[in-house]
Amino acid sequence: MPVSPSDFHELVLAARTCRRFVEDEPLTMDDLDWLVDCARLTPSARNAQVLRFILVTKGQVLDELFKLTRWAGALKEGGTPKPGERPTAFIAILAPKEGAPLAPYDAGIASETIQLAAATRGWGCCIIYSVNRKDAAPLLKVPADMDIPLALGLGVAKEERAIAEMPADGSFNYWRDAQGVHHVPKRGLAELVIGRFGA
Ligand SMILES: Cc1cc2nc3c(=O)[nH]c(=O)nc-3n(C[C@H](O)[C@H](O)[C@H](O)COP(=O)(O)O)c2cc1C
Repeated sequence: MPVSPSDFHELVLAARTCRRFVEDEPLTMDDLDWLVDCARLTPSARNAQVLRFILVTKGQVLDELFKLTRWAGALKEGGTPKPGERPTAFIAILAPKEGAPLAPYDAGIASETIQLAAATRGWGCCIIYSVNRKDAAPLLKVPADMDIPLALGLGVAKEERAIAEMPADGSFNYWRDAQGVHHVPKRGLAELVIGRFGA
C-alpha cells in the first residue's frame, strides 16, 4: 500500500525493511531513476556528491546479483526471499575507495531516502551490506577505484511488517510470526535519549 508523505511519522513507520516482493510486478528503469533522483537531492559531505549508482532490473544480472546477497541473517528459518518473492530490482551504491572518508554517511542518507521514497509508492526496500563484493564488482562493472558500500534490493512490497516493543530480555532480533508478519523491535525514546539540556 502506498503511504502518503503528508504524515511523515506514518511514512517512517511504513518504510520498514522489506524482504518479500511481488515478483511478477517488476520495477522498471524509470522507477529506479525516480528513486535515485530523490537520493541525488540529499545532503552530502562537503556537497562533493561522490556516490554513484548502478541500476539493475529483471534479467540475468539481477539473478546473479541476488545470489551474491545475504538476507535476514537473524531469522532462524532463513530470510532469503523465495522464488516468486524475490526483489525485482537492485540499486548498487558506489563510493570511492580512497579520498572520501565520509562517503559511508552519504550512502546511509541516500539509502534511507530511497527506502522512504519507495514506501510512498508501495515498494519495499532492503538495505544490504552483506554483498559478495569480490564477485559483484565484475558483474556490475564497478570502476576499479570504487567500492559498493551498500546495495538496495527493491520491488513491489509483499511482506507485512510491524514495529514491536523491545522484549524484556533486550533482544533486538526481528522475528516472523505464524502468519508470516515480520516484527521489528525498536527501543523506546526513554532509552535512546540519554541527555537533555533545556526545557
Ligand atoms: C547499514 C545497514 C546494513 C544492512 N544490511 C543488511 C543485510 O545485509 N541483509 C539484510 O537482510 N538486511 C540488512 N539490513 C536491514 C536491517 O536488518 C534492518 O534495517 C533491521 O532489521 C531493522 O528493520 P527495519 O529496517 O524494518 O527497521 C541492513 C540495514 C542497514 C541500515
